Amino acid sequence: MKFSIITLFPDMLSGPLEISMLKKARDNGLVDIEVINLREFGVGSGKQVDDTPYGGGDGMLLKPEPVVNAIEHTKSQQQATDNSMVILLTPQGDSYTQATARQLSGESHIILVCGHYEGFDERIRAFVDWQISIGDYVLTGGEIPAMAVVDSVTRLLPGVLGGERSAVDDSFADGETLEYPQYTRPNQFRGMEVPDVLLSGNHGEIDQWRQAQARQRRRG
Ligand code: ADE
Repeated sequence: MKFSIITLFPDMLSGPLEISMLKKARDNGLVDIEVINLREFGVGSGKQVDDTPYGGGDGMLLKPEPVVNAIEHTKSQQQATDNSMVILLTPQGDSYTQATARQLSGESHIILVCGHYEGFDERIRAFVDWQISIGDYVLTGGEIPAMAVVDSVTRLLPGVLGGERSAVDDSFADGETLEYPQYTRPNQFRGMEVPDVLLSGNHGEIDQWRQAQARQRRRG
């Protein structure tokens, strides 16, 4: 699976993409993540990417040509068999959930378009397949939302989590059950103890306790 992230601020993404799980998944060839600098698609010798709004008002809007050219260029670089899904990160989009992440994990190529500052020319929306919001709050741009999508989808890809824990055990994996509580050493911390059952070595009882705890955390 491949992600292409179109952004004016590639440096915002380099840290998260080069650490921990995402780095390992990339190094192991489980996911391919490319970052595309929108500036390269800017208009004219100044590589202009934004402009003032028609009708007046504060701030600058992303121009349509650089964004649409970047999307089309990115699509043209893929193998003909790869179907690219284009997602625009915007607070006006559909709410992003674990179900969305699961759905996206079945795609072969996802292009994430990060908006920035005061917004973007309305006509850009006609060139995307899906508009997604990661919550009812406004960030300065789509980079952090894009990372939330990349991270939550990548960890669902086969082989990424590995080890004894799998994405199936997760909170939200079945849509409503939350995870059971977990503890590590020391077994006494500031007056709080680890439940006896977890120290018992009885795996049947431990499983039952965990299931009961997870059910108790069921929401609503
Ligand atoms: N861009 C700015 N805020 C956003 C949000 N909450 N979700 C997605 N993209 C955004």
